[in-house]
Parts: sequence; structure tokens; C-alpha cells
Amino acid sequence: MTIMEIYGEFKPYLSKIRDDVMKKLSDLNQREIDNHKTKLYEHLIGRVKTENSMVEKCQRKGFPLSPEGALHECKDAIGIRIVCNFIDDVYRSIDLLKHVDWCEVVKEKDYITRSKPNGYRSYHLILKVNTPYPYVDDCTPGCYFVEVQLRTIAMDSWASLEHEMKYKHTIENSEQIGRELKRCADQLASCDVQMQTIRQLIHEND
Ligand code: GTP
Ligand code: MG
Repeated sequence: MTIMEIYGEFKPYLSKIRDDVMKKLSDLNQREIDNHKTKLYEHLIGRVKTENSMVEKCQRKGFPLSPEGALHECKDAIGIRIVCNFIDDVYRSIDLLKHVDWCEVVKEKDYITRSKPNGYRSYHLILKVNTPYPYVDDCTPGCYFVEVQLRTIAMDSWASLEHEMKYKHTIENSEQIGRELKRCADQLASCDVQMQTIRQLIHEND
């Protein structure tokens, strides 16, 4: 099977944009540390979706197998995860992202307030990012989409394990595994709330 070059001539820009956006986020974090002595997030990870996964996704969603389908219709070729210590930090990061001049939030999904039925919690943003790299779509030349997932360490550990185990269920025990995973997600969510309360109590004495 030949490898489909779905990103075409735009492929080299994708990892550069991922790195540029991660640098901007890291600057934002540093500014918060300098100004308020509290960090925005614990860590960041970024990835560019492989061309094979992108082809599979475009086929599944009925998008054209072209740079247009992969970079414009599908908006998660570039993905960045922001992992925060506390739930408040997630919302503080979102608020800051909505006010920076280098991107625009074009879509958001709050799976924290309304978790997915399986217990998944996370806040997803699609950013339209201004870049110095060429891309012609029906919006602005030079704009690329970036998917940002924001979650706490607890939500992140659950999502990683659930993702890891999702493919290992047998038909017979999948219902019980799903129930246990959901229970686990709800317990972690309650821990996040407790941790937030503890932080507030500590700060009351500042
Ligand atoms: P995708 O085709 O999966 O991209 O769906 P979508 O475009 O409707 O987006 P959605 O916001 O639901 O999910 C986007 C991404 O969030 C996924 O690619 C996963 O990385 C993550 N995600 C969503 N749901 C789950 C889940 O139930 N478990 C885990 N581990 N990750 C999830
Ligand atoms: Mg997606």
C-alpha cells in the first residue's frame, strides 16, 4: 500500500505551527508565573496527526482526501493538550486564549460541565491561528486550525488509560469495564473538586 500524502505541500509547516503555538502557550504560562506567581498549566504536549490516521478520519467523515479535507474540513491535524493542576486553571487558560491576538476560538466543546456518557472529561477548543505559512482556504490565507484539549491531571490520566484499554475489551466483559471506568472517572472528578477547595482554603490565608 502506498502512503497517501494527504497534507501535500503543506506538510512541512504543520510541525512548525505546532511548535510555534506551544511556544506561545509557554510564554503565556511564564507571564502568569511572573505576574501572579501561579502557573497556568502543569505541562503541554503537541502532535501532528499522521497522514495514515488523517486519511482514515477523512474517509470516516466523508471529507475529500486532499489538503483541503485534511486541514480545513478536518480541524485537528495539529493537536495540543494543556494539562492543568486544577479545574480553575483550565478555565483561566481558556479565558486567556480567548483574548490573545494570535488566534481566534472558532469552536468549543465543554465535556467538563457535561461529561461524555463514558465519563470522559475535557474542554476542547478549535483555534484558528495566524501563521506566516501559506495556506489558501475560504477564510484567510495563512490561517491554520489547531485543536486544543484542556484538562486536569486527573482527567488526563483517566483519558490515557481509557484510550489504552478501549481496544482491549472483549465483547463479553465490555459492559462491566465501561461501568467501572465511568465510576473511576466520577471519583477522579470529585477529587478535582476537593483539590480545588483545598487550594482555595490555602489562598484565603495569603
Ligand atoms: P473525532 O473524530 O474523534 O475527532 O471526534 P470529534 O471531532 O467529534 O471531536 P471530539 O471533540 O468528540 O473528540 C476529539 C478528541 O478528543 C478525540 O480525537 C480524542 O483525542 C478525544 N476524546 C474524545 N472522546 C474521548 C473519549 O471518550 N476517550 C478518550 N480517551 N478520548 C476522547
Ligand atoms: Mg477530533
